[in-house]
Amino acid sequence: MPGGSQSQRPVYLRDMMFGKSEGARGMLEKMVDQGETGDTFRAARLYDVLSGTLTLGRRDQVFDRAAAALPSTPLLSATPSGLIVDVGCGTGALSFALARRFPDAGVLGIDPSAEMVGRARSQAAKKGIDLSFETGTAQSLAVDDEAAVAVCFSLSLHHLPAADRPAALGEAVRVLRPGGSILVVEFDPVGRIGSAMSMHDGDIAEKLSVTEALGDAGFRSVEQGRVTNRLLGWWTGRKLACD
Ligand SMILES: C[S@@+](CC[C@H](N)C(=O)[O-])C[C@H]1O[C@@H](n2cnc3c(N)ncnc32)[C@H](O)[C@@H]1O
Repeated sequence: MPGGSQSQRPVYLRDMMFGKSEGARGMLEKMVDQGETGDTFRAARLYDVLSGTLTLGRRDQVFDRAAAALPSTPLLSATPSGLIVDVGCGTGALSFALARRFPDAGVLGIDPSAEMVGRARSQAAKKGIDLSFETGTAQSLAVDDEAAVAVCFSLSLHHLPAADRPAALGEAVRVLRPGGSILVVEFDPVGRIGSAMSMHDGDIAEKLSVTEALGDAGFRSVEQGRVTNRLLGWWTGRKLACD
C-alpha cells in the first residue's frame, strides 16, 4: 500500500493495546470469538473484572442509572409484569438492574455466549433473583411477536457486524408490543473515555449512530442522554402504537 493511503488508516485502540504483542493478541482471541454474527465474549469472569474496572467499581449504580433511562410508558405502567428483553446481556449487569427497577417484570437476557449466559445464571442463583437467561442472537430472537414491553441493548449493538444491526433492530420492533420501548446503552461518542472506547474496534469506528439507527428502524420519540459523564450514553425510542 502506498505510504500516502497508509497514513490515512485509522489507528484503533484495540491495535494500540494488542497489535504489537502476539501474547496479548492471543489473550484477546481467547476472550472473544470473532464470528459471523458478532464478537462473542467467552471469558465471562474476566469480562466482569474489566467492566467493574471501567465503571470504577460502581457497576450496579451505573447500570441502575441506565435502567432508569427506560421511560415509564403507559404500556410499562399498565403491564408491570410484562416481558423485558436484554439483548446481548453478557453476564447480566443490565438485566439485574432492570429486575431491581421493575421487580414485577419478567426479564429475559439473551446472549450467544454460553459462558456469559452461564455466569449470568449462576449470579442470579447466588443473588436469589428470578431471571431467565438464554443463548441466542440479536439477529434472530427466540421471542414471540409483540411479546415484550421493552427491549434493551447494553454495549451489544456495536458487537454486531454493521450490516446486521438493522436486522437486530428489526427483531426488536417485531417482538415489541405497540407502544413498547427500546433502550440502547453505548459508549458515549462525546464522552472522553467513551469516545476512546468506541475506537476499540474498527467496526464501531464505522460510527454507530444510534439515533439514526433507531430512526431507520422505525422507532419514534427518540431521545438520548448520559448514563455517566465520560463513558456511557443512553438512547430510547418507542414503537408506534399503530405499527
Ligand atoms: C460488551 S458485552 C456487553 C454485555 C452486557 N450487556 C453488559 O453491558 O455488560 C457485548 C455482548 O454482546 C454479545 N454479542 C455478540 N454478538 C451478539 C449477537 N449477535 N447477538 C447478541 N449479543 C451478541 C457478546 O457475547 C457480549 O456478551
